[in-house]
Amino acid sequence: MVQYAWKLHPQKNSLKHAEFIKNKYYQLLKDKIILDPFCGVGTLIIPLKSIAKKVIGIDIEAKYIEWAKEYEKYLTGHNSIEWIVGNSIELVDQINFDIVITSPPSPILYATYLPSVFRDTKLSSSEAKRIGKPKHPDNAMGKKDKCFLVTNKVLRKCEKKAEAIIVVNQKKGYVPVYLERMKLVEKHEIANSWIELYLKI
Ligand SMILES: C[S@@+](CC[C@H](N)C(=O)[O-])C[C@H]1O[C@@H](n2cnc3c(N)ncnc32)[C@H](O)[C@@H]1O
Repeated sequence: MVQYAWKLHPQKNSLKHAEFIKNKYYQLLKDKIILDPFCGVGTLIIPLKSIAKKVIGIDIEAKYIEWAKEYEKYLTGHNSIEWIVGNSIELVDQINFDIVITSPPSPILYATYLPSVFRDTKLSSSEAKRIGKPKHPDNAMGKKDKCFLVTNKVLRKCEKKAEAIIVVNQKKGYVPVYLERMKLVEKHEIANSWIELYLKI
């Protein structure tokens, strides 16, 4: 059993992003149902549960959802987030939510980020890579064209229901977002990423 296995998931900066989003968009998020359709270990949404009505996280990797539950307990002392294992392309139509907050699958994440996470684990780098690597055949992580396709497919479905979409997009490996009913209204640079707010046109 790997202790603190969620540390292997490459999203440590997400806590900074979550804090920024919580402060900057407090009024928008307060008492809302928040969905992250690419939640990983949940770093982006766990800090938001104190202000939201409900928080839902979906990830295609069962392992990441297992770690997300551990991570939520570690950070907040209890579990109240609805964690779902599945493909967001199929699931977002079946779920009710007000706001989407997500960092989309990245084409370069594992190559560039994992080495800096090794310091926090007791694992060798090859062991960490083996455990942290996505296993599901439909996972878009690391596959350039698929990242764009999956991200845009899921977010286009989300924009039909959401009143706002907040995307945390790494500067390196930036994944452009193309929406039909929403437009980018502001963009902030935080911890090597862009935080983008999309609202209804
Ligand atoms: C950039 S990571 C998100 C990291 C997250 N913010 C965190 O704190 O761990 C993108 C996530 O999308 C997931 N993913 C990729 N394709 C997916 C799909 N079709 N449906 C649901 N999740 C998917 C990957 O497993 C990965 O965990």
